[in-house]
Amino acid sequence: MGKDVIIACDFAGKNECLAFLDKFEGRKPYVKIGMELFYAAGPEIVREIKARGHKIFLDLKLHDIPNTVKKSMSVLSNLDVDMTNLHAAGTISMMEAALDGLTREDGTRPLLIAVTQLTSTDQERMENDLLIKEPIDKVVMHYASNAAKAGLDGVVCSPLEAGKVHNTCGANFLTITPGVRFADGDVGDQKRVMTPEQAKKIGSDYIVVGRPITAAADPVAAYERCVKEFVD
Ligand code: C5P
Repeated sequence: MGKDVIIACDFAGKNECLAFLDKFEGRKPYVKIGMELFYAAGPEIVREIKARGHKIFLDLKLHDIPNTVKKSMSVLSNLDVDMTNLHAAGTISMMEAALDGLTREDGTRPLLIAVTQLTSTDQERMENDLLIKEPIDKVVMHYASNAAKAGLDGVVCSPLEAGKVHNTCGANFLTITPGVRFADGDVGDQKRVMTPEQAKKIGSDYIVVGRPITAAADPVAAYERCVKEFVD
């Protein structure tokens, strides 16, 4: 399972996103649709990209009471996405309810991935705003273990944490890692980055790559470079 490059299609609208995907012609990269595009373009954008033959990671990070998350996951499952996610902070009960909602009548379901602590949350904010006093690395691993206990398939984490997540939660527990940059590329606003090749070595299962591909002069060549470094 895994070892694929997922392109973060962080576009403001449907036309921009489809025009970008048109550039790939025969190739069908795995696509991440986030909140911005989903809220702007609605479920139709998912149906359209699926109909073109792409796999979809729908990155909506659900977090609500278990019943609401269960019902919402059931809707996302009917959209036939391949992967979706939620916040592990919603508790084990919420994650179990999500899995239940996501599972179709025939027993199949999209992969379900947990977000642990967002990378925008640092130790100070976690202690002061959330009153969580433990070291952030311990909190991240605890949330990852909770996700594994609930039966989820993996977590979103920094490539730097992928090895530790596998040690804690098992080799088959998936690590989906953003924060990927080419060795000769712009880091932008990402703080802790790795190249696709390093992410492969450290054991990431999927890398999520946005601007190094979407903002490249030749996005198809940039995508192929990612695949070559990470998958081949
Ligand atoms: O453009 P870039 O490669 O930085 O895009 C990374 C993608 O991964 C974006 O969609 C971003 O929202 C997402 N992401 C992230 N860091 C996280 C979780 C998600 O960069 N911790």
